[in-house]
Amino acid sequence: MKALVLAGGAGTRLRPITHTSAKQLVPVANKPVLFYGLEAIAAAGVREVGMVVGDTHEEIESAVGDGSAFGLEVTYLRQDAPLGLAHAVLIARDYLGDDDFVMYLGDNFIVGGIETLVDRFRAERPAAQIMLTRVADPRQFGVAELDARGRVVALEEKPIEPKSDLALVGVYLFTPDVHDAVASLKPSWRGELEITDAIQWLIDQDRRVESSVISGYWKDTGNVTDMLEVNRLVLDGLERGLHGVIGDECEIIGRVVVETGAEVVRSRVVGPVVIGAGAVVRDSYVGPYTSVAENCQIVDSEIEYSILLRRASIIGVRRIEASLIGHDVEVTPAPNTPRAHRLVLGDHSKVQISS
Ligand code: TTP
Repeated sequence: MKALVLAGGAGTRLRPITHTSAKQLVPVANKPVLFYGLEAIAAAGVREVGMVVGDTHEEIESAVGDGSAFGLEVTYLRQDAPLGLAHAVLIARDYLGDDDFVMYLGDNFIVGGIETLVDRFRAERPAAQIMLTRVADPRQFGVAELDARGRVVALEEKPIEPKSDLALVGVYLFTPDVHDAVASLKPSWRGELEITDAIQWLIDQDRRVESSVISGYWKDTGNVTDMLEVNRLVLDGLERGLHGVIGDECEIIGRVVVETGAEVVRSRVVGPVVIGAGAVVRDSYVGPYTSVAENCQIVDSEIEYSILLRRASIIGVRRIEASLIGHDVEVTPAPNTPRAHRLVLGDHSKVQISS
């Protein structure tokens, strides 16, 4: 069995971060979201991974390498344009050969791994096995309709009137039957080859499509709100570890990790918080559910429930909340006169100013 990990895509919902970086590498508790997926794949006993990459291929390749750090053998498969999840299967046809495979969306975060799911698939080998979860508003997801035995009878992408509250989670298992389905697809109204259409084709051909409903936690980290929420969840499992330098006049409360080479001076840090190697926190407050990546600076500032990417600096600012701050970003106060905001913002930035 192989894995097909999708790490291409446009990432429009995470702009401007995705103008310069792959969304699958945005860190959750200082570890790229993609790495959690790769660890789950390795834990399920799969070694060979085809990684679908697009414009951000260099960044993904330099982060993941040959996969040996995860116990995996990674082969990169270049997708010229993000033409859909089923298009990714199409371009991976030769790599996948006649093997069964698990397809994993590189920006998805699943608590509890995929071992049980993969074991069940190996034992039963339906043409496709999908993972579902109950959601409050199914209209923004692929939605499944099940019969009384839990077999999938229909799938619909972002339905206006959903037939259930069961949304598709970004992990799918397939036998090579899926290649016939993918080969028969036409682009949808949004110009993409849809994996839901491929699975619907299998259903229409009377091939067996099974589902598992997961009660554990699942998030598509494609937008900032979900990203911050996943960060909160992972930080909740953090264990305290103060390896860096903690100055005398500091208050470090609860589950706080200060990595080796980081420095906290005259500050109050209330966990769960992780502060990466080489970061400096001085005369500041860092509140719950904040991840500070390596070499960031937080000086004379207050920040809470946020993610800072590497080398970001926050100097003299209070107070920042629910924010995703890209690498090498500088946030500082404007001069007092005139009382005005001075902004240098990349395309598609989103700023909420309290004034
Ligand atoms: P999506 O989040 O559905 O698509 P996207 O990356 O284009 O994002 P947005 O909607 O914000 O523009 O993609 C799910 C995962 O699959 C993500 O890791 C990107 C990847 N992907 C590919 O590798 N190739 C593709 O053709 C598509 C559509 C997605």
